[in-house]
Amino acid sequence: MKIKVITPDALHGEAWTAALRTERAFDVALIVRELHTVNVLVNGSRPDLVLVETTAPKDFDALEALAGAHPEIDYVLVGNDLSPEFLMRAMRAGVREVLPAPAAAADVLAALRRQLRKRPGAAAAPVARHGEVLALVSCKGGSGATFVAANLSHLLALGGRRRVALIDMNLQFGDAALFVSSQTPVSNVADVARNIGRLDTELLQSSMNEVAPGLWVLAAPEDPAHAADVSPEDARQIIELAREMFDFVIIDAGRSLSAVTLQALDLADRVYAVLQLTLPFIRDGKRLRDVFRSLDYPSDKIHWIVNRHQKDGQFTVEDLKRTLGIAQAITLPNHYEAVAASVNQGVPVETISPNSSIARSLRDLAESIAPPPAGKARSGWLSGLFNGSPS
Ligand SMILES: Nc1ncnc2c1ncn2[C@@H]1O[C@H](COP(=O)(O)OP(=O)(O)OP(=O)(O)O)[C@@H](O)[C@H]1O
Ligand SMILES: [Mg+2]
Repeated sequence: MKIKVITPDALHGEAWTAALRTERAFDVALIVRELHTVNVLVNGSRPDLVLVETTAPKDFDALEALAGAHPEIDYVLVGNDLSPEFLMRAMRAGVREVLPAPAAAADVLAALRRQLRKRPGAAAAPVARHGEVLALVSCKGGSGATFVAANLSHLLALGGRRRVALIDMNLQFGDAALFVSSQTPVSNVADVARNIGRLDTELLQSSMNEVAPGLWVLAAPEDPAHAADVSPEDARQIIELAREMFDFVIIDAGRSLSAVTLQALDLADRVYAVLQLTLPFIRDGKRLRDVFRSLDYPSDKIHWIVNRHQKDGQFTVEDLKRTLGIAQAITLPNHYEAVAASVNQGVPVETISPNSSIARSLRDLAESIAPPPAGKARSGWLSGLFNGSPS
């Protein structure tokens, strides 16, 4: 793999190239200059990967232009601006990984080895199973996003007929695992992030609890302080790997937008924003809609769920649609008894009260996402024969 290291800092450049040269698969060239003054593609042959340290906005603009013109090259960035806006921009530009400055040589080596492992072995990249990623986000605390995420995951697993991962990216106060089980998590997102260098299917699988047939949960860290151990790049790697291993990856993104949750929302095929029909929720729903617009999400990526819906409420679903300028909203009924029993016991609502209105509505939602396998629920003549036959 041909690597070009570009940094205005000679000391950084020399330390990194020395570390990188210990890897036999790397062919490293160093350019001690600011990126915007370098023509990356002349001065020698075309690199497979560019490791660039940007210290000024001009360099980042140059990187965006370069990555736009040459998407076939991989980019790893060292920078000191790690704001969600900056990380989103970097991701959009096609940057594979962002390392916080000052980056230790060992971290640079580890990052580039990760990129090396990801390079498709010529054309022999295995076509992995591509599961669907669904992210649930609360417009405001207490909307029911976790309840919906956990129960939808349970229903999509369909008693073991599909493989579903529920990943709790509500890193500070995540409680998704408790909605469907009383098991103690074997590990959590922060533990996996700390071991990201050796992340593979085995590590991820062994970090999850199988809480129901086909339903695997990766819990949020127990200690809110450990949220800081998870970078957006860690989240990306976890979600991308999970998508290869499972039919559905359901992410509880909680209610706070951070670089990590934005990463999750970006990777999601569909985002479900959960709210209720009261003014504070609608107000925050509008804010969230504006965020989605500024992220250029196509409108068919976003789905709105009105939870705890009651027909005699002060606001109607039509009011909400008009206020948010949306065409559709999914409604889930308010059902205090069934939901409280489910949440308090840590048992999915489908198990505890399958005939309740909320269980029925959640089933409809799950079936709209993934229709049940044909023939399974039907009572054709053959199944009738078996079911009805005296033993
Ligand atoms: N359809 C419903 N009917 C009745 N009660 C509900 C319903 N959905 C959720 N609840 C109640 O609302 C509470 C909050 O739900 P949940 O924890 O899922 O919200 P959240 O959006 O994840 O909140 P947070 O932002 O704190 O993570 C639940 O404990 C449950 O008791
Ligand atoms: Mg929650």
